Amino acid sequence: MARSAVVALRNPADRPAVPALEKDAPVPNLVLRLSDSENGGTAEATRPVIDRDAALTLLHESEITAAELVPWGSNYTFGVALTTATGREHLGIYKPKAGEAPLHDFPTGTLYRREQASFLLSQRLGWDIVPPTVVRDGPHGVGSLQLYIEPSVELTDSTEYWMQPSTEIERLVLFDHIANNADRKIGHCLLDQTGKVWGIDHGLTFNHVPKLRTVLWQFIGQPVDAGLLCGLQKLLDDEGEVRLELSEWLAANELDALLRRVRSFVDEPVYPGLSPRRNVPYGWW
Ligand SMILES: Nc1ncnc2c1ncn2[C@@H]1O[C@H](COP(=O)(O)OP(=O)(O)O)[C@@H](O)[C@H]1O
Ligand SMILES: [Mg+2]
Repeated sequence: MARSAVVALRNPADRPAVPALEKDAPVPNLVLRLSDSENGGTAEATRPVIDRDAALTLLHESEITAAELVPWGSNYTFGVALTTATGREHLGIYKPKAGEAPLHDFPTGTLYRREQASFLLSQRLGWDIVPPTVVRDGPHGVGSLQLYIEPSVELTDSTEYWMQPSTEIERLVLFDHIANNADRKIGHCLLDQTGKVWGIDHGLTFNHVPKLRTVLWQFIGQPVDAGLLCGLQKLLDDEGEVRLELSEWLAANELDALLRRVRSFVDEPVYPGLSPRRNVPYGWW
């Protein structure tokens, strides 16, 4: 008999359900579990790791069988249970267009499209930074649906970790420059159970005007890693295909600006300094 899955939000034992909005409060990791409502809500073990193609099929084809609102975040974001036709279950993050908070500097109702474009860009670059993401219908209408990434055990000092000058973190930083990410906080950097780096929350990307806001500034003045530069060159070589793929999700001027940013890194492969505008994201999460 099919189980009736519910999504259970679990917090590390020493943390309140909604972390206090204090300057020094640790950045929360989202710990989600599927649990069986017929079995007293007992929490299940971690979901198995699945590869990208399997994840995309799951995201497109599964049924959303339960949803739980994430109690932090700037928009209405839901942890959801995904159930396949054969009864297998997984976890996703659903961000409906209808739950997006209006912003003065991004067109209303487009953030879920930017989540999708970010995943496609990460795949095009071969960097595999953004968890598998699709756009589809859900309980609150169309939105982005992304694979939930189980965070690793808490880092003792996450800020120190993410500010290291490693190539894996550089990939995330270069992605933000290219995608023009206006919201790279520590809470949007994830380390999964296998130690792999992921970036999440790419709703504020691809603005046509420069808007990079990030807390990761450790590469200023440094040359871009040669391997990463090859990814950028490949993007330019495939410009026709890139335009075709992303034009479904981004406006023409946003696409032009993206390619301009890539070209300028290829022409001058050094991380630029701070801009005279705001350089760090708004808010904590
Ligand atoms: N793919 C994911 N895997 C694991 N946790 C996620 C994922 N996407 C989002 N989260 C968690 O949900 C929270 C809210 O999601 P986020 O994308 O930041 O939404 P918002 O646009 O509302 O800020 C994040 O701070 C993070 O804790
Ligand atoms: Mg967020």
